[in-house]
Amino acid sequence: MIILGIETSCDETAVAVLKIDKKQDSLTIQVLSNVVSSQVAIHRKYGGVVPIIANREHTKNLPVVFKQAIQRAFPNSKSISSKIDLIAVTQGPGLLPSLLIGISFARTLSWAWQKPIIGVNHLRGHLVSFLLPERKRKIKFTEFSKIFPAICLLVSGGHTLLVLASKINKVKILGETRDDAAGECFDKGARLLGLSYPGGPAIAREAKKFSGRELPFHFPRPMIDTADYDFSFSGLKTALLYKLRQLPEEKKKELRPALAYEYQEAITDVLVHKTLSACQEYQVRSIIVGGGVSANQRLRDKFVKQMKKKNLSVRLMFPLLHYTGDNAAMIAGAGYFAYINNSREKHTWKTLDAQANLSL
Ligand code: KG4
Ligand code: ZN
Repeated sequence: MIILGIETSCDETAVAVLKIDKKQDSLTIQVLSNVVSSQVAIHRKYGGVVPIIANREHTKNLPVVFKQAIQRAFPNSKSISSKIDLIAVTQGPGLLPSLLIGISFARTLSWAWQKPIIGVNHLRGHLVSFLLPERKRKIKFTEFSKIFPAICLLVSGGHTLLVLASKINKVKILGETRDDAAGECFDKGARLLGLSYPGGPAIAREAKKFSGRELPFHFPRPMIDTADYDFSFSGLKTALLYKLRQLPEEKKKELRPALAYEYQEAITDVLVHKTLSACQEYQVRSIIVGGGVSANQRLRDKFVKQMKKKNLSVRLMFPLLHYTGDNAAMIAGAGYFAYINNSREKHTWKTLDAQANLSL
């Protein structure tokens, strides 16, 4: 089955083509193309994504990105529509002016090509992204049974969720953030520190400059010991703001690596601690991490270290780095799983709409 994926929920315009072959005992996933055009440079000067600018950029970029993805997937082919079996497009959650561009484009293709279309939950895309290979990967069904049930930590700019997945397509939310998302916390913290957008990679880079000397301050680890699986990150941003207000101007710069380091430690400590608690309570076979923040190396290292310390012998799955941020390969992948598990439902362009607040 060949799936065309389209993603425009935030500030990346992305199109991908995936080939997924189901055999009796295995699934072979092949990424035929995966093109992402980022608007980060444009939004950077505003310190975050401006929805109406994102809308304009998606409108301009999507046809170009689409053409590239199609040409890479089918270099010498003229009849493209005959090759595509399913169109998968992000339905939400996301910014409405952004979502609408991808959805209108996908619906038009579905109408013109007379192909089924499926609206995909962006978060489910992040959830399946750990399965995506660089090019091609065969996964035996026996391997799936070693992965699930799993605890999934989905950490992006808009969401922080802890999820129990009994199967790849069967999920239950255990907890989520009550205010800011982990990525948002990185972004807001970076802005306070005078670092660039997106804040996650900027804080990670700054934290690396920290010498490792003892810190003259400590940030809270919000909700780390509560009996639920919810998160709260807005207090952490306030703690950083108050610390910065206390410091004389010249000290702010000198202590910036230390502040970034401790800020990153606080976020990653909470994420790892809560995920491992859920993992122990639900006796799962693996931990799956996805979303933009899953690119964070400190988070990855901390998981490995803490799992060793707690003697937890579950699998730990992260996506390849280029599938951590928004991309359309993950949308095609999630679209495939939703479609094969629900193929009797009508998948037509007539009824598909954007749902900015779609929940997992
Ligand atoms: O999943 P994503 O690309 O878009 C959304 O769906 O929101 O996530 C973007 C978020 C941003 O907040 C960005 O700062 C964060 O992911 N991020 C990181 C890193 N790379 C991106 N956070 C921490 N460390 C990173 N290396
Ligand atoms: Zn995302």
